[in-house]
Amino acid sequence: MTGTDFVPLAYSKKIANGKITWKSPSNIALVKYWGKKENQIPANPSISFTLDTCATTTTVSYQKLEEEGNEFSFDLRFEGKPKESFRPKILTFFQRVEKYLPFLKSYHFTIETSNSFPHSSGIASSASGMSALSLCLMSLEKELHPEMSGEYFNKKASFLARLGSGSACRSIEGDLMEWGLHSDTEGSSNEYAIKYPYPVHEVFKNYQDTILLVDKGQKQVSSTVGHDLMHDHPFAEKRFSQAHTNLTKLRSVFADGDLDGFIKIVESEALTLHAMMMTSLPYFILMKPNTLEIINKIWSFRERTNSHVCFTLDAGANVHVLYPEAEKEIVYQFIKNELVAYCENGQYICDAIGYGAKKM
Ligand code: PMV
Repeated sequence: MTGTDFVPLAYSKKIANGKITWKSPSNIALVKYWGKKENQIPANPSISFTLDTCATTTTVSYQKLEEEGNEFSFDLRFEGKPKESFRPKILTFFQRVEKYLPFLKSYHFTIETSNSFPHSSGIASSASGMSALSLCLMSLEKELHPEMSGEYFNKKASFLARLGSGSACRSIEGDLMEWGLHSDTEGSSNEYAIKYPYPVHEVFKNYQDTILLVDKGQKQVSSTVGHDLMHDHPFAEKRFSQAHTNLTKLRSVFADGDLDGFIKIVESEALTLHAMMMTSLPYFILMKPNTLEIINKIWSFRERTNSHVCFTLDAGANVHVLYPEAEKEIVYQFIKNELVAYCENGQYICDAIGYGAKKM
């Protein structure tokens, strides 16, 4: 399916008003998306675990306007209070998706959102936020066109979420989501994410992710600026082809439950993401001293105990500590004893693999 498949034909129903709520999770990439082309097309394919606890809940109330307006009409509320600072981002999103949701100027929307994770925790809410909003708009489209299939609903929700924030397209379903054309993955697409279609060993079920909040400050590099750094980057082409290779390697890792292979790919991907930032112009170091302390502690714990705990990073200083459910107790003790001291105000979030967004 391509973009043109998501332009709807005439709707069969008329709806005056209503209210829809979706709760959509965040996700953590194992093979990272970093670099994009026009229209939010990724420069390389990526794969992520859908999370469970870290989520955004969005309620969209809609009221049909007497006459279709020339502008988009909406109010925004965040955690119970008006939030005008979100307006430019939502406006850009509406402009990008209007072609696919032609009803957008026919309604006044009130969009209310809240996050399960603490405000300014340094955890990006764009993936959960944009996927939740896309799902609410898809629910309205489904009311206007009740014959829509469940498969189309999810694909289009992922497609719309991608236009809001690339990685958001991987938050619609779970537990393992792949986005971006990859010759070794049947059904893969640059336009939306798909559920990882190959066998996954039991050991990856209910995988744990404890997010250590090392630096809760504002992101030093917005993801828009970050992706742009990959244009004219001296290592861009090598990096993009490495992501393809890593995805291919993951296929047997997932099938065989090869935890050592998993660790190698996941940690290398995290460090490569940061290496790309350190070697771009302008250059950035997004890790903090405590990020490195944590990484070193994880490595020495692994050597001492033969545990399969590993880490990954987003475009920031926080550390995602990943481990199999079977090692939950020992790794959690290790985190409390040795890693929490490096978190800002001792803060961390216990999360695990989740199965995607839910209609409330
Ligand atoms: O979705 P964006 O544009 O915020 O980019 C996210 C990029 C990373 O989180 C660093 C990697 C990824 O694949 O999620």
